[in-house]
Amino acid sequence: MKILILGDAAAAAVRAAEFIAAQVTAKPASVLGLATGGTMEAVYEKLIALHRAGRASFAGAQSFNLDEYVGLSGDHPCSYRRYMAEKLFDQIDIVPDAAHLPMGEAADAEAEAARYEAAIVAAGDIDLQLLGLGLNGHIGFNEPTSSLSSITRLKTLERSTREANSRYFPEGEEPPRLAITMGIGTIMRAREVLLVATGAAKARAVAQVVEGPVSARWPGSVLQMHRHATLVLDRAAASELELFDYYLDVHPE
Ligand code: GLP
Repeated sequence: MKILILGDAAAAAVRAAEFIAAQVTAKPASVLGLATGGTMEAVYEKLIALHRAGRASFAGAQSFNLDEYVGLSGDHPCSYRRYMAEKLFDQIDIVPDAAHLPMGEAADAEAEAARYEAAIVAAGDIDLQLLGLGLNGHIGFNEPTSSLSSITRLKTLERSTREANSRYFPEGEEPPRLAITMGIGTIMRAREVLLVATGAAKARAVAQVVEGPVSARWPGSVLQMHRHATLVLDRAAASELELFDYYLDVHPE
C-alpha cells in the first residue's frame, strides 16, 4: 500500500482531488468509483475547483457510486443520489446518464443489487475506486464480517455506522437499516484504489487497515491484497500507525 501522510485534512483533500484529476486526464473515458461521507465533501470541493480551473473534465467519464440506502428515493434529501448531485455532479461536466448509483427505492432491492453489479461488469469494471473509511473499518457499506469476495448486495448497517450517519438526517429521522453496496470483491476488481481518511476519530481504523491482519473484522484491511492501493491520510488519522516515520520517509508530502 502506498501511504501518503498530509499535514491536515485540507491538504489531504487537495491531494486526493489531484489524484482523481490525473486519472481522468490520463484516461478521459475512465470508469470512476465514487464514495460519499463527510471526508468526500472536502475532496469534491477541491475537485470542482480543479474542474473550474480547466484541470479536470469528466465529459467522457462514467461513474458508479459505492452504495445507497434501501428505501430512499433518489430525490430524498438524505439519499446518496442527492448528495452526489449537490456536492459533485451538478457542478462538473459529467453526463447525467453516465453517473450511476444503486436505486434505493427499487421494489426488489436484491434484484437491483444484481443489476448494479452487472452494470459495473458491463462497463469493464472500475478504473479508479475512491473510498472513505468507516469508524469500524468499513469500505462502502461493507460492515465487519463482510465476505472479502462479496459482490453488490444488501447489507444491514451496524449501529456505529447508523449513529455516525444520523447527523445527515433531520431530527427524529433515522438512517435506514439496510443499504445496497458494492461488495469487497467488486471493489478489489478496480484497477486502482484511493482511500481517504482524515481526523483522529479514524486513527484506530486506519491502524487496523494498514498494519493489522487482513481480516473481515476490519474490511478495509483487504486493501493490503490490492496491487495498486493508495491511502491519503492526514496526520491525525495516521497518528496510531506504528511505522508513521517510515511512511513519511518513503513519501515526504
Ligand atoms: C458512509 C459511506 C462510506 C464512507 C463512510 C465514511 O458510511 N457509505 O462509503 O466511507 O461514510 O464517512 P465519513 O467520511 O463521513 O467519515
